[in-house]
Amino acid sequence: MRTFTIMKRFLLILFLASSTWAFLPNKKSTAPTALASKERKPWDVFRFVSQSSKFVPSPFSSKALKQRVKPNDVLWKASSPSFKFAPLDDVVMGGASSSTFANGVWQGTVTDANNGGFIGIRNTPNFDWDLSACRGLELTLRRRKGPSVSRFKVGIRDSTDFNGLVWAASFDLPTATKKIRIPFDKLTPTKFATVVSGVELNRSNVVGLQLIYSKFEYGGELNPKFTLGDVDLEILEIRAY
Ligand SMILES: *[C@@H]1O[C@H](CO)[C@@H](O)[C@H](O)[C@H]1NC(C)=O
Repeated sequence: MRTFTIMKRFLLILFLASSTWAFLPNKKSTAPTALASKERKPWDVFRFVSQSSKFVPSPFSSKALKQRVKPNDVLWKASSPSFKFAPLDDVVMGGASSSTFANGVWQGTVTDANNGGFIGIRNTPNFDWDLSACRGLELTLRRRKGPSVSRFKVGIRDSTDFNGLVWAASFDLPTATKKIRIPFDKLTPTKFATVVSGVELNRSNVVGLQLIYSKFEYGGELNPKFTLGDVDLEILEIRAY
């Protein structure tokens, strides 16, 4: 019985790792290979396991209750977080970038060694928001270091399926405190980094949230406002509007 539970967890970790491809170009994409990094670094399998395992629901945890959200409701704030974010970096697919998240501060270093090039944070299980009365999310962020402007991505999920759609939006962030509005009707639905069409976000079932800083945008395109190196970003608050 116990072996079965451990095996189930292992399979979930594999599912989860494959789901992070949602933010990366697929192999068949026409990404300019000349720009691919040739640098190789040893792969940190322990960090891979420790990061991935944070996202596997515990067999003892209960399902989150659906929360009916009204415009202006605060969904998360650094001083009293309603759920946890944890790093999910390119180590999950062999890369060597790394980040940490504590007390609202997300710090990391991006490298494109091993053909990687992203760091991210994702909610750990779980919440269940009915946002059908709202038009979008407003993130209050403070970038503390780095180039004058960088382009980040936010990903929203309306399914707990590990390989489910990621509803993505890109936004440019200066080194300053800024409120970023993410309108639901401007999200780009993606699956394995490819843009899909003919789908609609289920606003009554928002169950996942992630932030990412990646070398890539969508469908193999490069992020035009990206630099390798250090990232230092503070999330002050997330609310609905
Ligand atoms: C949206 O999610 C709700 C659960 O909150 C579900 O009952 C409903 O069927 C979903 N709608 C669609 C179109 O999938």
